[in-house]
Amino acid sequence: MEFVEGQYEIQSLKLTALAEKYGSPLYLYDTANMERQYQRLMNAFPGVRLRLNYACKALTNINILKFFNQLGAGLDAVSIQEVQIGLKAGFAAEKISFTPSGIHPEEAYQAVGLKVPVTLDSLSLLEKFGKKYSSSVPVSIRINPHVMGGGHAKISTGHKGSKFGISFQQLPQILDLVNQYRLHVRGLHMHTGSDILDISIFLKSAEVLFDVAGSFPQLEFIDMGSGFKVPYKPGDYETDIEELGRLLSERFNQFCDQYGKNLTLIFEPGKFLVSTAGYFITRVNVIKETPLTVFAGVNSGQNHLIRPMFYDAYHHIVNISNPEGAVKPYSVVGYICETDTFAWERELPEVREGDYLVFLNAGAYGFSMASNYNSRLRPAEVMIHKGKDLLIRERETLDNLLRNQIVHQF
Ligand code: LLP
Repeated sequence: MEFVEGQYEIQSLKLTALAEKYGSPLYLYDTANMERQYQRLMNAFPGVRLRLNYACKALTNINILKFFNQLGAGLDAVSIQEVQIGLKAGFAAEKISFTPSGIHPEEAYQAVGLKVPVTLDSLSLLEKFGKKYSSSVPVSIRINPHVMGGGHAKISTGHKGSKFGISFQQLPQILDLVNQYRLHVRGLHMHTGSDILDISIFLKSAEVLFDVAGSFPQLEFIDMGSGFKVPYKPGDYETDIEELGRLLSERFNQFCDQYGKNLTLIFEPGKFLVSTAGYFITRVNVIKETPLTVFAGVNSGQNHLIRPMFYDAYHHIVNISNPEGAVKPYSVVGYICETDTFAWERELPEVREGDYLVFLNAGAYGFSMASNYNSRLRPAEVMIHKGKDLLIRERETLDNLLRNQIVHQF
C-alpha cells in the first residue's frame, strides 16, 4: 500500500474507490506483494534444491491457489477439502503435500486415491497405512522435534506437549512399523509453529530431522514446515530469511553429503507468502465517547478477523478516509455481541462515522478463519492483479446462511 497525493493505493488503485465500488467490509489481496515474498524466499537458499508449498489454510480462495500454481509453487493441504480445492485450482497431484493432523485413516486413503502424497503423523496411522499399502504407496512422516517455537501458545506445534507429529524419541517404534510393513519413507516433515522470529529454532529442529534421517535410506526430501514471522507493526522485526537461508543451506548441503544424496528442501509458508499482501477494509458505524475511552465501532468484528481476539495479535489500522487528521486515541471494536476489541486506545488520525478503517496483514488467517457468528454475512474478496481489481468471492447473502438449514413444520 502506498500513500500518493493524500490517498492510499495498491498497484495504483485507490483504496477508498475500491471500498465504494465493492462495499465494505472487504478483503483485498495484492498479488504483486505475494510474488515478491515468493521470490524473496526462493532466492534465500543458495545452492539448495528448494521447493515452496503454499500453505493454503492461510488463504484458501481458489484464485490465490491458481496464482501460486502459476508461480511454480507446490501446495500444502491439511484437509481433504484443501486437497480437492488444490486439484481444482490446477495443481498436479504430486505437487500437493497432504500434511494433516489427527485425521481419520479414511481421509488419508482418499488422498492416496487422488494420488496426492501423504504425511503421517501418528504411530496408529502409520500402522494402518502400512497394513493397507505396504511399500506400494510412498509416505512421509511428521516428526515432533520437541522444540518450542511460535508467537503464541495456540500456534506452537513442535514442542513435547504438542499433539502434532510423532516424537523423535519414538524413533524405535517408528522403525519397527516401517520394517514390519516395509514402508517406503520418502520424506521427513516437521512444523514447529507460526510467528517464529528466532532462526535458531529452525536450525535446532533441522538437526533433529538430520539425526532421524540417518535411519531412512530412501529419503527424497526434508520438509521443514514453516512459521516465518512477518512484520505486523511499523518497524516490527521479521524472521531474517536471508541469514536463515545462508546458514541452513550450508548445513543442509553438509547433511546431504553425509547422507550421500542431494535431497530437496521444502518449506510450506502461509503467512510469509500472503499476510502482508492482504487488507481488510471496514467502515465506522459509530463513534461512542465514554468516561474511559472513545470507541470507534466498525461494521465488522471477530467474525471476520479473529486474530486480535484469539491470539492478542496486533494488526495495524489505517484511517484511509482521513489520513492527515489530528491523531487521537481510539478503541476500535466490532459489532459482535461479545467484547471483540481490535485495538485498545490506538493512535489514529481523527476517526469519524463513515470513515474507512483498513486492517493490515489481513491476507493470512483473515478470511480463512472468518465465521457467520451472530448470523453475519462474510465479506467479499477482491484480488488486485496486474493493476486490475477482480472480484474473487461475492459477499454472502441471507440465502447462504439458510442454505443448509432444514425448515420443519411443527
Ligand atoms: N505447515 C503446517 C503443517 C501448518 O500447520 C502450518 C500452519 C503452516 C505450514 C503454515 O504456517 P505459517 O507459515 O502460516 O506460519 N491461525 C494462526 C496460525 C496457525 C498456523 C497453523 N499452522 C494465526 O493466525 O497466527
